[in-house]
Amino acid sequence: MQSELARILAEAREQLKQIAALPEAEEMRVRFLGKKSQLTEILRSMGSLTPEERKELGQQANAVREEIQTMIAGRLAELKEAQKELRFKAETIDVTEPGKALAVGAKHPLTVTIEEISRVFQSMGFTVTEGPEIEDVFHNFDALNAAPDHPSREMTDTFYIDEKILLRTQTSPVQVRTLLKQKPPLKIIAPGRCFRCDTPDATHSPMFHQVEGLVVGEGITMADLKGTLDTFAKLMFGADARTKFRPHHFPFTEPSAEMDVSCFKCGGKGCSVCKGSGWIEVLGCGMVHPNVLKVGGIDTEKYTGFAFGMGVERIAMLKYGVDDIRLFYENDARFIEQFK
Ligand code: DAH
Repeated sequence: MQSELARILAEAREQLKQIAALPEAEEMRVRFLGKKSQLTEILRSMGSLTPEERKELGQQANAVREEIQTMIAGRLAELKEAQKELRFKAETIDVTEPGKALAVGAKHPLTVTIEEISRVFQSMGFTVTEGPEIEDVFHNFDALNAAPDHPSREMTDTFYIDEKILLRTQTSPVQVRTLLKQKPPLKIIAPGRCFRCDTPDATHSPMFHQVEGLVVGEGITMADLKGTLDTFAKLMFGADARTKFRPHHFPFTEPSAEMDVSCFKCGGKGCSVCKGSGWIEVLGCGMVHPNVLKVGGIDTEKYTGFAFGMGVERIAMLKYGVDDIRLFYENDARFIEQFK
C-alpha cells in the first residue's frame, strides 16, 4: 500500500508537468483526489487493517493527498498568472501609434457669409425669418408694385412653374408675407435662395442667394435707413468702411438708392477689386412704397418703413477674393476647405 501511495505521488508529479491549461488542471484534481481516485480507493480499503496500520497508512495517505493538492493549486496559480499576462499583452494599446486622420468638413462660404450678415443685423435687433422658394406672381411681383409690363416678369427672366406659380426671383416677397402676418413695429431680415433665367458665367448663376431687410414703424425715415446700413457696413467690412448712397429705382421703394462701400481691399484708393473706383456696390434699398404697405393693410399716414436687399454671392466673392461665382456650386472640397 505504501509503495502504491509513492507511485500515485510520482505519477501525479509526472502528469503535472504535462498540464498546460486550466481545464486540464481541474481534470487532474478530479482524477487524483476525486471520489473515484486511486487514493480514495486506498483510504476506503483500510477497513481490513489493524488500528495501528490504519493510523499509519491514513496519515501517509493524507500527506500524499495534501501534497497533490498543493501541487495542483500551485500549477493552477501559475497558469492563471500566465493567462493574465497573455491578456494584458493582447490588450496593450500602443499610445505612440499614429492616429487615423478624420476628414473634418467645413461650412460653405455662402453659409458663413449669411450667418455673418444675420449676426450683424441680429445685434441691431432684427429677427431672422424665411419665405418659400416656390412663390406666386402676387407675392413676387404684384404686391411689390411691379408694373404689369415690368420686364422682370418675362418668361425669359423668370422660371415659371405655371401662369401663377414661379421660383422667386428675389427675397423681396418675404416683405409682403411679413406685412400680411405681422403688425408694425417690425424689423426683419430674410436670407434665402433666388432663381433667374441667367446663363451661367463668372458673375451669373440661375440660382443665387439674397438677404432681404424690412423695417416698419412710426416715424421711420431715410436717416434710419442710412444709419442702419452704414452701421451694417462697418460691422461687416471693418470700422474704417465708409458708405455712399446713389439714387436708383426699384418698384417697391420710393425713393430708392444703391449703397456703395469704400473698397475693403484698397481702402478707397482704387484697385482691381473696385475696378479703380475705390467703391463697391453692395445693396439696393429705399423707403417702402406706400402701395406695398397697403397690401398689408398698414396705415400709411401713421407708419413708414425702409427695405434693402443684397446679393450674398457678390459679398462673399468680394470678401474672400473668389473670381468665379460657379465655384460656389461645384462642391469641390478643395475649394470649400479654404474657408475653414
Ligand atoms: N429685390 C431687389 C433685387 O433683387 C433688391 C432690393 C432692392 C431689395 C431694394 C430691396 C430694396 O428690399 O429696397 O434686385
